[in-house]
Amino acid sequence: MLGIFDSGIGGLTVVRELLQRHPDASFIYLGDTARAPYGNKSPETIARYAVEDARWLVSHGADTLVVACNSMSAHAMQALRDALPGTRLFEVITPAVAVAAKVSKGRVGVIGTRATVSSHIYEDGLTRIRPELRVVSASCPLFVPLAEEGMHHARETKMIARRYLTPIQRAQVDTLILGCTHYPLLTDVIQQRVGRNTRIVDSPSAVLDVIAAEDASQLAAQSRPVQRYCFTEENARTREIAENWLGCAVTCERADVSPLTKP
Ligand code: DGL
Repeated sequence: MLGIFDSGIGGLTVVRELLQRHPDASFIYLGDTARAPYGNKSPETIARYAVEDARWLVSHGADTLVVACNSMSAHAMQALRDALPGTRLFEVITPAVAVAAKVSKGRVGVIGTRATVSSHIYEDGLTRIRPELRVVSASCPLFVPLAEEGMHHARETKMIARRYLTPIQRAQVDTLILGCTHYPLLTDVIQQRVGRNTRIVDSPSAVLDVIAAEDASQLAAQSRPVQRYCFTEENARTREIAENWLGCAVTCERADVSPLTKP
């Protein structure tokens, strides 16, 4: 069974893509809302949290993990491989890099958390495939709490988008990678800011394509699919946003992933 995880609700963008393509697939989702955001934390802390999240998922029946978080995909993959040697792992950065490198006409923008942008993992990946690409990056840390608060179309979100995205817009990028799984929740505001001619590439569809190509059995329809939504801190807002975003009823369960989150 797939275990899909993120610092909070961002990984639900991967779940939405999964449910749109494979409504009867089984999965267990973990959002570490008690410790979100991860994107402002050190690489060591992100890696430690990622391993704790992953161990929790494996101990609850997941045998294949989708690291539905760019910050963890940038900083925690080695730690995850070391901690869970027998577990198959899918991260979200390589698939988005491959799509952007394929479709860009020459200028790519990347937006993400501070942790992801400062890792330069997108620039490195893109220029490895196409050395002539010009890549402009910007960290947009406030987008995560705005998405978590459900302020997807708020005036404040538009103001912050203007501030964060002006350098991207000025660079006249033809392709923009949403390098954080929370950002697809804000696609309308982001697209409005960068203009309709900029093609947006996000990780949910890119990673689903890779899973379908490499491990399709994980996406198979089940007669009685297991679809669990677990959060380390859960409030009415979490459920409301999850239900609005996914368009279905969601029962949220409480997860205790480490001593830090125990009452
Ligand atoms: N959604 C995550 C990402 O893709 C984490 C955001 C955060 O917790 O700062 O990076």
